[in-house]
Amino acid sequence: MKLFNHRKLYDKDSLSLDEIGDNPIDFFKKWFKEAEKSDQIVESNAMTVSTVDESNKPSSRVVLLKEIKDNSLIFFTNYKSKKGKAIDENPNICASFYWAPLERQVIFKGIAKKTSDKYSDIYFKSRPFSSQVGAIVSNQSQIISSYDDLLIKYDEFLKENKGSNLNRPNHWGGIELVVQEIEFWQGRENRLHNRVISNLRDGKWEHNILSP
Ligand SMILES: Cc1cc2nc3c(=O)[nH]c(=O)nc-3n(C[C@H](O)[C@H](O)[C@H](O)COP(=O)(O)O)c2cc1C
Repeated sequence: MKLFNHRKLYDKDSLSLDEIGDNPIDFFKKWFKEAEKSDQIVESNAMTVSTVDESNKPSSRVVLLKEIKDNSLIFFTNYKSKKGKAIDENPNICASFYWAPLERQVIFKGIAKKTSDKYSDIYFKSRPFSSQVGAIVSNQSQIISSYDDLLIKYDEFLKENKGSNLNRPNHWGGIELVVQEIEFWQGRENRLHNRVISNLRDGKWEHNILSP
């Protein structure tokens, strides 16, 4: 299957270094709000998180951004999952957004750490009961004998715990990506896209333009 002719023109907007301002996280929030407003973007908070495990093997997967807090992006996951184990060994991670209708990409790099138990508890409690049960019964990333067995486990747990106040399992919680670098990409005509990279150095953001 050749895709040589899959080619799109980008001409919706432009991006200059001056627009980023002092704090690129604030600029990201502006782009994020625009993505949220677009009725063509279904999950603006879906981001691809890449990790590298102890054998230097990379993996990427989509997770949902749940908070932008100071210089951090927070998502929730199972700490014993493939990504959770990779982060334990190597906390350098990357998270990226591609909002096709806006012809924009944003790439974050930084260091991952677990959020506090208190923070994870608060988020866990805010989830619907069915999602809490899902997080409890799923040993994320483990091989399972069958999907039906998982459903049985889910139903049994539900029956035994209906109406009870569930506690967050210790192996499930927030991951905070403490951002050190952000790259903003805006598609332009003739493949001459705009790229601006911001790096946090000694507590101050430095911005530079990159060649497309
Ligand atoms: C739209 C979307 C949202 C997702 N959100 C999450 C999430 O917030 N947390 C999570 O652990 N997995 C989420 N997943 C599932 C992950 O992509 C992945 O399958 C799972 O985390 C296991 O990844 P791992 O084996 O690499 O650790 C989401 C998947 C999709 C497609």
